This record gives sequence, C-alpha cells and structure tokens, in this order.
Amino acid sequence: MCGIIAAATDRSVGKLLIKGLYKMEYRGYDSAGIAMHVEGDVAHLRTLGKVNLLEDKMKSEKPKGKVGIAHTRWATHGEPSEINAHPHQSNDRVFIVHNGIIENYLDLKNELTTQGYTFYSKTDSELIAHLLDHFLKTNDSLLKAMQSLKNKLEGAYAIAALDQKDPDNLVLARNRSPLVIGLGKKENFAASDPLALAELTKKFLIMEDGDVARISSNQVEIYDEQDKLTNREELSIDVNAEASSKGNFRHYMEKEIFEQPGAILNTLDGRIGGEDVLDNIFGEGSSDLLAKVKRVQIVACGTALHAGRVAANWFSAISGLPTQMDYASEYRYKNPYIDEDTLLIAISQSGETADTLAALRYAKEKDYLATLGICNTPTSSLAREADYLLLTNAGQEIGVASTKCFTTQLVALMLLTLALAKASGKNPRLRGRIIEALRTLPEKISDALKLKSDIVDFAPEIANKDNALFLGRGIFYPIAKEGALKLKEISYIHAEAYPAGELKHGPLALIDEEMPVVAIAPEYELAEKLASNLEEVKARGGALYVFGNAKEKLDLSTGRYISMPECDFLLTPILYSIPLQILSYEVALLRGTDIDQPRNLAKSVTVE
Ligand code: F6R
Repeated sequence: MCGIIAAATDRSVGKLLIKGLYKMEYRGYDSAGIAMHVEGDVAHLRTLGKVNLLEDKMKSEKPKGKVGIAHTRWATHGEPSEINAHPHQSNDRVFIVHNGIIENYLDLKNELTTQGYTFYSKTDSELIAHLLDHFLKTNDSLLKAMQSLKNKLEGAYAIAALDQKDPDNLVLARNRSPLVIGLGKKENFAASDPLALAELTKKFLIMEDGDVARISSNQVEIYDEQDKLTNREELSIDVNAEASSKGNFRHYMEKEIFEQPGAILNTLDGRIGGEDVLDNIFGEGSSDLLAKVKRVQIVACGTALHAGRVAANWFSAISGLPTQMDYASEYRYKNPYIDEDTLLIAISQSGETADTLAALRYAKEKDYLATLGICNTPTSSLAREADYLLLTNAGQEIGVASTKCFTTQLVALMLLTLALAKASGKNPRLRGRIIEALRTLPEKISDALKLKSDIVDFAPEIANKDNALFLGRGIFYPIAKEGALKLKEISYIHAEAYPAGELKHGPLALIDEEMPVVAIAPEYELAEKLASNLEEVKARGGALYVFGNAKEKLDLSTGRYISMPECDFLLTPILYSIPLQILSYEVALLRGTDIDQPRNLAKSVTVE
C-alpha cells in the first residue's frame, strides 16, 4: 500500500527521501514521486514504476533542497500512471502526498470544479491539494488551511503537504491512517511506516486521529482534534535497520522463512515459565479477564484469519471454548452475535489492516467482555487500541507473503489457548506437555527447513501447471488453505484448498494428470480417512505430493512423499506450514515472478 516519507533537514534531502521510499517498497506500489523546495520554487518529479526510475530522474534533474515530501502509490482510484502518482499539486503552490481514501471525494471534487479548479488525475487525493490551496486564500498558513481541510474530509488519511511560499515547514494530518513523526538533530521527519526512517532516528511521536502537525528542521508542533497545541509521548523505537537488508538470501520472503526458528523463540521469550504460560502476558489484569471468557470471536483477514482458524480448534480442544470466526471485512455487516462473556480477538501482522481495525472499533462499541490484539507491529493502531495485546515479536516482515508472522501468530494463539485454559483451571498436564513441546519447536522448525532440497527437486513439476489443490483435514484444513493462498499469491498458479472429505462432493471432477494435489497427512486420528481420500485422487491420475510422518499407512506407488520431523501433534499445524511456504517460494522462483512484491498486492492493506 501507499507509503509516505517527509523531511525537513539542514542537509540535502533528495537522497534521504529516495532511501526512505526504497525501504517502503515491500509494501507494494506502482508509482513514486517527490516534491521538494528548491530556491523559491518546488521541484516535482514523478514516475510510473519502481523507485529506481524516480532515482534516475532525480540524478538527471539534480534538484537540490532541504525540505520535501515523497510517496509510493498503490492504485485505488485511477489506474497506475505518472499523472495519478503523488505528489499532487494545486496552482504550483501546494503539493501533497496522501495515504487512505477520501469517502466524500466526489462531492468535494464537484464543489472545487465549480470554483474553477482543474483536476488532472483520476485520484481522490488531488482534491486535497486544491482544497488546501482554496483554504490558503483565507488562512495565513498551511497549518491553518490543513485544520480547515480536516473538517471537510470524510474517510481515512495520512497527509504530508508543503507550500511553495513557506520553504521551511511541512504540514501533516492524520485520521485512521498511520503517520509518525521522527525526531532528529536539526532535522525532523514524518513517515507512514517507521521503517522508512530506520537509519535516521529512534525517537518517534505517534500522531493520533484528528492531529495536525507542523514540522521544520528545528521544531515540531502538534495540534489535536480540537486544534489545541498538544504533546504526544516520545517513544523510542529501534526499527531494526537489518530488516531492510536481504543478507545472503535472494528474497526477503526466503530470509523470513529461514528466520522462523529465531522469530518463534522471540514470541515465546518471557511468556512461559516452568510448566505453564506466565500470568498477565496479555497486559495488566489479563489473567483475571481470561477467567471470565465463555466464548471467543475472531476477526482477521487472509493469512491472519488462517491462524485464527487453527486457534479455533485449540480453543475448543484445550480451553473448552466455542469460537466464531469471521473475515474482518464481513463481520460488521452480519449482525454478529455479541454478549458480555465473549472475548473479541483481532489478529493482524501490520496492525493497520483497514477491515480488521474497523472490526475492532466496531467491537469496542459493543458489549463484548474485552478486545484482545495479536499483532507484530508495536506502533500500530491495533496495538494501541485493543484492550489487551500480545506482540508476536517476529521482527519486521518485508515480503508481502506472510511467513514468519503467520507461524508466530500461531505460537501467540497457542499461548492464548494455554492462558485461557489456565485461567479456568483446565488441562494442567496437557498444558505442561504443550509448554515442553513449544520449547523444542524452534529446533523442529529448523529440521523442517532442511527439507528444502527435497522440495527443490519436485518444484518444477508444479511450476509448469496452471492449477493446484491442497488437502488437509481437521486442524490441517486451515494449513491447506494457507498453503494454497501462499502458492497463488506469489506464483500466480490457481490454487484451492479443501477438507479432503469434501473432494467427492464436487472438486474430484477437476482431478486429472494436470492437477497436482498437495496433501497434509501426519499420523493422527484422521490419517486413515485421509489415505482413502488420496486413493480417490490416485485413481483419477492426480499427481500427489504428500507431507506426513506415516508413509507405511499410505499406498504411494506413485507421487512424492516428504517425511516430516516428529512433533507434538497439537503443534504440527505450525511445523507443516514450513514446507508449504518453501514449496510456494521455489515454484514462484521457477516461474520468475516478483516474489517479494507480487502483482496487485500490498503488504499493509490500509483501505477497506
Ligand atoms: C498473505 C498475507 C495477507 C495478510 C492479510 C492481513 O500472505 O499476508 O493475506 O495476512 O492482508 O494482513 P495483516 O496481518 O497485516 O492484518
């Protein structure tokens, strides 16, 4: 999704802005641009395509300035093009970059057109530049114009703006779209993603909804929703600069797959002790709260919802709690069942997914017992707004396809399962067994990573197909869904997942020699039933790729069998995710796709 970086410095700002844009590339984008003050004028450069093209343009035009704004755009209104790229401008005076969506843009656009403003782009963002220009006619500063503007805008926005007549200052505004201010020595910055400022500062102020701010190289002023000068708490955030390098890996996704043993250790660190989960790991008083939970409602999107689907099995089997799960984008519109004994859990890696946040905010207005967030981004809206929180501590995930954030979400949800069971005194011996298994999980994950060479062997057989089917039963069905999602999003092969027992109710019609079928088949109560389902595939010529640990139970004269490391059954969904991630990665590599930034996708989906 879109990324903003802005800076007011005492040094040349161009390279700094370009570097920040590179750091936000992982979010997904289609065009980029910069506007900066240059000796009484504003240099305005935009390109369709990657940041390196913008950098080339900067190198050939060589604008020199100290104050500027820059943006990567992920198209929502209007196709990817240079004219739709940000910054947008009005009368060569006001230049803006914007993340989010202005919901009343058609009304505002009509008003502005009547007043004589011409729109060059198809975006909703351009009207922000024109409206600021309009308000500058009756206000003596861009700050005041921005304060007037916010009363007109409906929707989500993070905005950075500059006025050609005021070369020292930048003005910012935030509503429901992240924006942080970074504090430096004789320089100050703003960004929609702290990672963009990773090498510039560790000191941050997080803007709140309704805030407008003015920054120069030596001053930061923030005004709250009521336009009163305010202070926001200074946070020290060590945005790991290493996260922005791939090391020896070919892609961030590959690096993040191999980081999983360490990431899981970090999720567990300080949360377990002896034979149990520690008290209050979800925040002050959380253990007392968990004792009151009678039902669970999960909201999340995509991969995060798959983690929730696995957890629903654990909540029921280990904590004795029924769970309702919903796509965050659907939940608010279905008249959800709500009562005061239900805990609402929002799961999100970024903590900025618009649908998940909207669901959380909706839930906070209702009579739930409490809301609890599982999140990887400490500065995110979700992390700040949920009543209780567990950070997954996986480290920054850059690849658009989630890997380490998924498995650490699963670990966090297992900790929640144990905490819920502990709060109501359930299953103490089982809890002890799982804690022991969690301690050895990072090693098991390292073993599963060693399967890479086996997977590389047969990846070409899948890479030349157009479709793939993933099968799993029970707790492995969500893992099959996650495997299919991973494959389709980075290799663009059409992939679907089914609980294997459903095959003969329709999907079996699709099976022939052209259909690879990936099955998750560990030794468990459903293994034999799954084996019969695989026979149905074999009988119709489907090519089987089976991940399991009981080969002798399957008659696999044809097809591939990948022997998985042994692991406590309740944690196997986490372990079996690993080879499926590697499989998608290797297949995508063979197909030559843009693995870290697959087409049409974004890392942080900040629009509904
Ligand atoms: C797929 C993937 C997405 C995200 C989804 C939610 O690999 O990463 O499906 O899981 O967009 O994102 P978060 O977790 O940031 O709310």
